[in-house]
Amino acid sequence: MPPNENPLAVLEDRHARPLRDLRISVTDKCNFRCPYCMPAEIFGEKYPFLERDEILNFEEVERLVRLFVGFGVEKLRITGGEPLLRNGIQDLIVQLRQVGRDTGADLDIAMTTNGSLLRRWAKDLAAAGLDRVTVSLDSLDPDVFHQMNGERFGVERVLDGIAAAEEAGLGPIKVNTVVQRGVNDHLLVDLARHFHGTGHILRFIEFMDVGTLNQWKMDEVVTGKEIVERISAELPLEPADANYRGEVAARYRYTDGGGEIGVITSVSSPFCGDCTRARLTVEGQLVTCLFADGGIDLREPMRSGKDDETLRQLIASTWTNRTDRYSEDRAGLIQIDGTTPKRERVEMYHIGG
Ligand code: GTP
Ligand code: 5AD
Ligand code: SF4
Ligand code: SF4
Repeated sequence: MPPNENPLAVLEDRHARPLRDLRISVTDKCNFRCPYCMPAEIFGEKYPFLERDEILNFEEVERLVRLFVGFGVEKLRITGGEPLLRNGIQDLIVQLRQVGRDTGADLDIAMTTNGSLLRRWAKDLAAAGLDRVTVSLDSLDPDVFHQMNGERFGVERVLDGIAAAEEAGLGPIKVNTVVQRGVNDHLLVDLARHFHGTGHILRFIEFMDVGTLNQWKMDEVVTGKEIVERISAELPLEPADANYRGEVAARYRYTDGGGEIGVITSVSSPFCGDCTRARLTVEGQLVTCLFADGGIDLREPMRSGKDDETLRQLIASTWTNRTDRYSEDRAGLIQIDGTTPKRERVEMYHIGG
């Protein structure tokens, strides 16, 4: 049945937010050890990552994506852990492209990666049909890079990965920088200068209390406003309109024509009101908020032979009952010591941001 004849096709949650984007985590492994996500003390040599049969295979991912596209999802983002550690990831992209062709949906397929393996994979990803990549890069300074991303790779490797992605036509490339006060915030202007005029879009992310491992404190957050002021003092900026409703990053363009930057202000100026994103974890849970304490299992019903209609009902009821707005609630939750209350939360490396 074509998607628009499906009686469930348009899904809105309790705050009238439609389902538009699906972020798909394809592995819980990563070759970086960013202390704010996978601290090296916890994720050592012997850490028990998920076994192969615990994670969704590509046929299962494809089947679910078909159902999500039937509900109007147009944007897909492959995440991890580090998605390029998943064997044969280019094959999944080929499969997802095919879903677009079969359903007539004009899918935007992107990937968020740490960049370390892009030199090896960029061409293959482009050939498979990936539209674009977003690369995480917290600092150009080697010492700060190691402090924020672990010891295994150096900043040159990520910069070379960005170059490889550009050569393969995976641009415009977005570069994500997590900003932590006292750690990398003195180096933001260096990053801005480095990417000014390159066509790459640098986006600064306010440090978030995502997962349970990062010891987040409000004092470590540098607000988007402060970031824009600091950069604008050196390289003047002016606000630019959003590309689409609900865009996560607020855009600013250089007044000299040197391109644009973005700030992702989940803490100082939350954007839950327009949040149209669902997340599929590596084990097949449907999670409706980055800060959720869990999700709805879609793997078990698939593996026990349930039909598409049953899965559709499960997805529809999960989305239509959704009330999440954690980032809007956060301000009221911050305690006297600057932390937010400890509770169960899905980890970043299971849902990929
Ligand atoms: P495009 O605009 O399509 O390029 O994608 P995007 O900005 O949504 O993707 P990206 O993965 O680069 O998102 C940037 C970062 O913003 C993520 O890694 C998260 O850290 C954060 N983010 C994305 N979506 C959400 C969200 O729904 N809530 C919150 N609080 N943060 C989000
Ligand atoms: N706060 C903000 N951004 C984060 N990321 C990972 N953990 C956090 C956090 N606590 C970023 C990564 C990557 C994207 C998936 O999310 O650096 O760019
Ligand atoms: Fe890996 Fe990204 Fe987590 Fe860093 S933030 S450990 S690169 S998944
Ligand atoms: Fe969406 Fe949850 Fe992020 Fe708000 S906090 S924008 S509801 S994912």
